[in-house]
Amino acid sequence: MGEHVIKRVAVIGCGTIGASWAALFLAHGYDVAASEPRPEAEIELRAVVAGLLPTLEPTGPIGQLTFTTDLEACCREADFVQENVVERAAVKIELMARMDAVLRPDVVIASSSSAITVSVMQSACARPGRVVLGHPFNPPHLVPLVELVGGAATEAWALDVAEAFYVGLGKKPIRLRKEIFGHVANRLQAAIFRESIHLLEEGIASVDEIDAAVTEGPGLRWALMGPFLTYHLAGGPSGMRGFMDQFAPMQQRLWSELGQPQLDDAMQSRVIAAVDKAMQQRSMDEIRTQRDRRIRAVLQARATEI
Ligand SMILES: NC(=O)c1ccc[n+]([C@@H]2O[C@H](COP(=O)([O-])OP(=O)(O)OC[C@H]3O[C@@H](n4cnc5c(N)ncnc54)[C@H](O)[C@@H]3O)[C@@H](O)[C@H]2O)c1
Repeated sequence: MGEHVIKRVAVIGCGTIGASWAALFLAHGYDVAASEPRPEAEIELRAVVAGLLPTLEPTGPIGQLTFTTDLEACCREADFVQENVVERAAVKIELMARMDAVLRPDVVIASSSSAITVSVMQSACARPGRVVLGHPFNPPHLVPLVELVGGAATEAWALDVAEAFYVGLGKKPIRLRKEIFGHVANRLQAAIFRESIHLLEEGIASVDEIDAAVTEGPGLRWALMGPFLTYHLAGGPSGMRGFMDQFAPMQQRLWSELGQPQLDDAMQSRVIAAVDKAMQQRSMDEIRTQRDRRIRAVLQARATEI
């Protein structure tokens, strides 16, 4: 549908994810029209963007950033929408319908939602065909993965436009064949997190030790090869066949023994207290800055090594 020249991107919702996307779009020369109901979000957004832009080392002219609390005004001139509002289905359904009513028909609405399906989010739109999932990984200004999928009413052209847009930003989109709550990567993270909480609750290891069991072990490989390739290599000369011959019974037993924690209020409080205790010497800013520095170093190492 149409020509799809994207110059102006509407960033709807300017919290953690919206601000990070905004910085990336600006660094690639797109004008960003941002919107939020909280007027004070403009100052926060401009501060985050000012901090991130130099780290993104823009090679060309930076786009213009504008802000308004008026959603419709923000969308009227937009060529692409990245939606990043609070993770509540009712809020997303309402906003999608309002944006759909004022956007040109060829404009794609991509949602950053971590788990809500597009079929739900597009359900009140007059033109639901334009709504897609464009789920980034935190922080979107650095992490390449974007999960792309349509809902029941999404049209193929919208996925094509979104994919081309993200590729142009240096992203690595993956297209899901079917939608599923939590998409792919968050389901994988949920599996690790569930067992992490189980091990913590059982007193097997501390917050620091469980985190180290990832970062000092399998996490190092996971930045380079996923679970299938990792175990293909673990299986010896016959690869995955060898892995299955040797480890299938162990794997099956592990699966049957993995924990099933119920995240009730009491468990949430215990986990929060344990993490607060482990992190007490470190500010959020310090942790975030170190994370970004290390992600950049890993990306650079991969780019030069591969
Ligand atoms: N935090 C993550 O790691 C992460 C990663 C990938 C995707 N996401 C997804 O991105 C979205 C935003 O998450 P976040 O972590 O940035 O949350 P956040 O709380 O930091 O930001 C959400 C923003 O939405 C704004 N908002 C609330 N109601 C709104 C409305 N009606 N209109 C416009 N803005 C509104 C809030 O004021 C807030 O600034 C969610 O859908 C989340 O699932 C989050």
